[in-house]
Amino acid sequence: MEKFVVHGGSQLSGSLNVSGSKNASLPILAATLLTREECVIRRVPDVSDTNYMLQILQNLGAEVERASGNVIIKCEKIRSHEAPYDLVRKMRASVCVMGPLLARQNRADVSLPGGCVIGDRPIDLHLKGLEGLGADVTVDGGNVHLEARRGLIGDTIDMAGKHGATVLGTDNVMMAAVLAKGTTVITGAACEPEVVDLADFLISMGAKISGAGTPRIEIEGVDELGGVKHTVIPDRIEAGTFLVAGAMAAKDQITLKRVNPEHLASVSQVLEACGCGLEIGDNTISISRAENPVGANITTEPYPGFPTDMQAQMCALFATTPGLSVVKDTIFPQRFMHASEMKRMGANIEVDEGTAMINGVEQLSAAPVMASDLRASAALLLAGLTAKGNTEISRIYHIDRGYEHIDDKLVGLGAEIERLPAD
Ligand code: EPU
Repeated sequence: MEKFVVHGGSQLSGSLNVSGSKNASLPILAATLLTREECVIRRVPDVSDTNYMLQILQNLGAEVERASGNVIIKCEKIRSHEAPYDLVRKMRASVCVMGPLLARQNRADVSLPGGCVIGDRPIDLHLKGLEGLGADVTVDGGNVHLEARRGLIGDTIDMAGKHGATVLGTDNVMMAAVLAKGTTVITGAACEPEVVDLADFLISMGAKISGAGTPRIEIEGVDELGGVKHTVIPDRIEAGTFLVAGAMAAKDQITLKRVNPEHLASVSQVLEACGCGLEIGDNTISISRAENPVGANITTEPYPGFPTDMQAQMCALFATTPGLSVVKDTIFPQRFMHASEMKRMGANIEVDEGTAMINGVEQLSAAPVMASDLRASAALLLAGLTAKGNTEISRIYHIDRGYEHIDDKLVGLGAEIERLPAD
């Protein structure tokens, strides 16, 4: 397994292009199963999660070509309706083939994804939603079997759960409903920009969808969808991660290009409140470090609230910000694996019941640390940028799941990071 060695103390400057969104790409790639025609998806980030999704699609019968950020997919004939455990266990988002398979084949067999390091991640709401459209759901031997013998039929489906709306659950029901008979109304729908991007993709394929981006989405089923060309939205979490890198280590300023600043409003607001200087353009954001940094209290919430996917990175920033910061994750209360690793670097963090209390120290010191999940790995990389000494981060395959060439991008800004082969 490869590892990173981050040489602490470099200062960052310059600019970088933000990649296309991983979390928008995954359901959009799955949605190509809804048509026999060719789809061209541009700006798909070259990360292992999108590669896993393409493997799943190929396994189901799709022809896939990938070249410089563009993916061409044609699924003329679906030859299987099964997403097996050895693929699903690698990536939870593979569950979003359920909706399209059901819509096109009236059947889907998908392995249950199981728990993951960021906490219990059930799919009960996905299943309840698909059941509401007429699918019979059975779970057996770790697999979910969905079958809609009489086809899918539109209905009112409530997707709200106790932690708020579900993003991929909303996606699954929306993808199933576009080819269902009649009208589907999703209430308690997730409002994330990635849901809107999927809706835009489906609409350009010929689907009739209104209200995406609000908690009430209405879908009028159509008989058929066609092939399209689509460009994926910028990755707001990658952008947010680089904003935190700037907040921690910018020499003067760093500039992110090809971003959608509106998608980052909650993150930008917190960074401004922490004293950072932000300049926001049409599709650029520049950030400079705070002269007198202050911490903050943040609570993760569904969009447009502060994203759980930025929680770990903020912990890295607050670890060296004077005073007390409080970070509460209401969406994934167990998502604090980074805290114990950062403690090994000298951070003063206590986590209790989904809340981290962080007392900023002057500087972290390098230590060998282990990446546990995607955003936790990003937080450790950020912590290493300003730590004293050389931080060795193992298990970096986690970071390669969702960040496109993050080491090269940071090195382009002046960081010193080596990617070393496994011992
Ligand atoms: N939930 C349920 N039942 C369900 C589904 C979800 O109780 O059937 C709960 C979850 O346990 C959680 C909350 O609802 O407490 C929200 O989870 P959600 O379903 O929205 O998560 P997801 O759709 O599986 C996506 C992103 C995650 C991101 C979350 C929340 C993708 C591929 N993944 O997951 O991204 O954290 O939304 O915004 O879009 C990441 O990129 O690092 C990542 C984990």
